[in-house]
Amino acid sequence: MVQEYKNQGNLNSLLNHYNIKIMAAINNSRREFLKRTAVATAAISIVPSFAVSGLGHRAPSDKLNIVGIGIGGKGHPNLVGMNTENIVGLCDVDWKYAQNCFNEFPKAKRFQDWRKMFDEISNSFDGVMVATADHSHAIIAATALTMGKHVYCQKPLTHSVYESRLLTKLAAKHQVATQMGNQGNSGDGVRKVCEWIWNGEIGEIKEVHAWTDRPIWPQGLQRPAAMTPPDTLNWDLFIGTAPTRPFNTIYTPWNWRGWWDFGTGAFGDMACHVLDPVYQSLKLGYPEKVSGSSTQVNTESAPQAETVEFDFPAREAVKNQKMPAVKVFWYDGGILPRRPDLLPEGENLMADGLGGLIFVGSKDTMITGCGGFNARLLSGRVPNVTEYLRRVSGAIGYVDGPHEQDWIRACKESLENRIEGTSHFGYSGPFNEMVLMGVLAIRLQSLNKTLIWDAQNMRFTNISPTEELKIVTTDEFKIIDGHPHFNTQYAKFNALEAANGYIKHTYREGWKLPAMP
Ligand SMILES: NC(=O)c1ccc[n+]([C@@H]2O[C@H](COP(=O)([O-])OP(=O)(O)OC[C@H]3O[C@@H](n4cnc5c(N)ncnc54)[C@H](O)[C@@H]3O)[C@@H](O)[C@H]2O)c1
Repeated sequence: MVQEYKNQGNLNSLLNHYNIKIMAAINNSRREFLKRTAVATAAISIVPSFAVSGLGHRAPSDKLNIVGIGIGGKGHPNLVGMNTENIVGLCDVDWKYAQNCFNEFPKAKRFQDWRKMFDEISNSFDGVMVATADHSHAIIAATALTMGKHVYCQKPLTHSVYESRLLTKLAAKHQVATQMGNQGNSGDGVRKVCEWIWNGEIGEIKEVHAWTDRPIWPQGLQRPAAMTPPDTLNWDLFIGTAPTRPFNTIYTPWNWRGWWDFGTGAFGDMACHVLDPVYQSLKLGYPEKVSGSSTQVNTESAPQAETVEFDFPAREAVKNQKMPAVKVFWYDGGILPRRPDLLPEGENLMADGLGGLIFVGSKDTMITGCGGFNARLLSGRVPNVTEYLRRVSGAIGYVDGPHEQDWIRACKESLENRIEGTSHFGYSGPFNEMVLMGVLAIRLQSLNKTLIWDAQNMRFTNISPTEELKIVTTDEFKIIDGHPHFNTQYAKFNALEAANGYIKHTYREGWKLPAMP
């Protein structure tokens, strides 16, 4: 198992470390889950997605036909988690990196260009799994949604706020089953956090702190020299919608995370896991203000450590628990929040190796690991709250499988009876917007202000049309004759145009998103 997944780097190794420890338990409960799903499938007269989406007719007992796009890394275990169904097509721009997944599903038709796959075999599949680099999620997922396909798309759902809004609206319009791949969202941790908070165990929460030790990949980099791409990689297809640039081995696989054109840095990578219990339990909606601060940020690459502060207005009470205005603080790159007074000395806030949360309430303080796991109150009191939210069987830790199966269940349910996937785009789209607001706060920090957000219109209201944004391009530091010498160069942009470009990207010639419904 470790061998199989090791090419996904440290995060997945770590997640797999969790997986291995609980694998026996999971396998059992997953087998149980699949058995139960099969029974439920027979009992509730499932209408296949083909019939729902008008693409054809199939017997209710049929398996789904799924294609995977971006299968060299996380896409591989995602598809293994879906292997109760038929995996009929595989697409990757890098056929060498994709080889393990090709071997796993030898019957699937292989492609390098997802557009070609959609053209050639669209009548043969119901659902699409997307696990490419972040910048290409939206174009693939949006195209699939407009074709009436069910979509499972990795986190962060998209690279820009506009793209998240688009996927949210397209999913609602086309009424297909969707799921963002933040698998911790299917776990019990987030449900327990919700149940405790909504039961009033923590009281009114006005402050939350969230952190991760990421990045564990290179960030804070300047653009490297050009290299010739290997024959097995179609670099132009990897670039896709982004501005073109010469190849270098530093970008793909995996390390694209740290480059602004392709990834979203540590915040975008981890916040969909870490902040999920906060977004869900506090029903945050859209922030009204955001500000960021970080180590040096440049035009190319995300910084090595970031802090972001969000302001959310008061929301409607949930089960009598008031939801006052709340501040959410984010820390990454190894920075941790101030230790709460009641936290025992010696307790490591990064004990789970992923991140954690502190909810500061009027009645108590709750501390959890990433994904809301191991929630406890710092007072030592143990709430006695009966579980009532739907549980996803087998979803323990960050194991792959149950979250994918929750999407498959939703795909198979008829529209009228469908219980949406736990991280369906109606939830994860707006949540992902919050995550991307954190990235915006970092990229716009040299404006030296708290940014005010008009969520409805996806724009900042306090950037003037003439304001300038100055960002480092290159930075050199040398000691000459015992004296430090700095050579820091900056690029200057119109701030409003830059902000709007980060919010809604201009795609490269030849690439176009479907229209906003
Ligand atoms: N939920 C999790 O625990 C988790 C863990 C790891 C990664 N992820 C997410 O999964 C996605 C992929 O991350 P990864 O670590 O697997 O990266 P990766 O670089 O290891 O794998 C991405 C794969 O997509 C391929 N690819 C890139 N652009 C493509 C395109 N346009 N068409 C087809 N194939 C393309 C690459 O060649 C590669 O095989 C990211 O969005 C990441 O955030 C989620």
